[in-house]
Amino acid sequence: MTSEDRQETADFSVVIPAAGSGSRIGGTRKQFRKLGRYNPLLHCVRAFAVHPRIADIIVVGPEKDLSEIEFFLSDIANYIRVVAGGSSRQESVFNGLSAEGLLDYVLIHDAVRPFVDDALLGRVMAATVEHGAAAPAIPVYDSVRRGDDDTFGRPIPREGLFRVQTPQGFHKEVIVSAHKKAREDGWEGTDDVSLVSRFGRPVYKVDGSGWNLKITAPDDWEMAEALWSYWEQR
Ligand code: C5P
Repeated sequence: MTSEDRQETADFSVVIPAAGSGSRIGGTRKQFRKLGRYNPLLHCVRAFAVHPRIADIIVVGPEKDLSEIEFFLSDIANYIRVVAGGSSRQESVFNGLSAEGLLDYVLIHDAVRPFVDDALLGRVMAATVEHGAAAPAIPVYDSVRRGDDDTFGRPIPREGLFRVQTPQGFHKEVIVSAHKKAREDGWEGTDDVSLVSRFGRPVYKVDGSGWNLKITAPDDWEMAEALWSYWEQR
C-alpha cells in the first residue's frame, strides 16, 4: 500500500507525547535511549506506522530536540509530524491535538511504552470506532495501600481497580473538546481517559497487555532490556 492509497482510507491520527524529562529514571531521557536497535520512541512510531488505518503521526518532543527527532524519523513515513511539547504531559498532548487536519479518530500513546503490538492496537481501535472513547487496562492483582516513605497506611480494596494503559483512543471531537475544557478549568489529569470521563462520558475498557510496560523507574529500564530480547524474536 503506498502512502497515497493509505491517506485515502486511513481514519486514525496518533499523538505520541515524548517531551518528558525522565526525572524518575535519571540520565538520558528514556524515550531517546537505545533499547535494542532503536529507541522507545522509534519503536512506538514503527508499530503505528505499519497500520493501514493510520496516516498521521504527531510526535510531541522537547523543543530543543525537534530537528534531531525529525531526522531520525524521516525515513519511516511521510505522514509524521513533530511538534514542541509543554511543561506537563497534558500540555504536550494538547499541543499535539492542536496540529492541523486530525483524522476522525485519535490514538494517544506514551513514547515510553515501546511494547505495543497489533493485537492491542486492534482492540483499542475497534472499541474507539464503536464507542468514541476506549482504553486498555489490566486489573490490579497486588494488594493496594496508602503509605508514606516508611510505613503503610490504610488499605484500598483492589476489586474493581484497573491500571490504565495507552494507546487511548477517541473520536477527534471528544478528545479535543475534553482538552479545551480541562485547559479552561485549569484541571490536570495523568492521562486522557481522566479528561474525557471527567463529566461522566463513558470510556470503554478493553483488555490491556502485560507486556505493555511503561518505562518509568530505573528498574523498568532493566526490565525493558530483558523483555526486548524476547519481543524482537517473536
Ligand atoms: O510523566 P509521565 O510518566 O506521565 O509521561 C508519560 C509520557 O508523557 C512520556 O512519554 C513523556 O515523555 C510524556 N511527557 C510529555 N511532556 C511532558 C511530560 C511527559 O510529552 N511535559
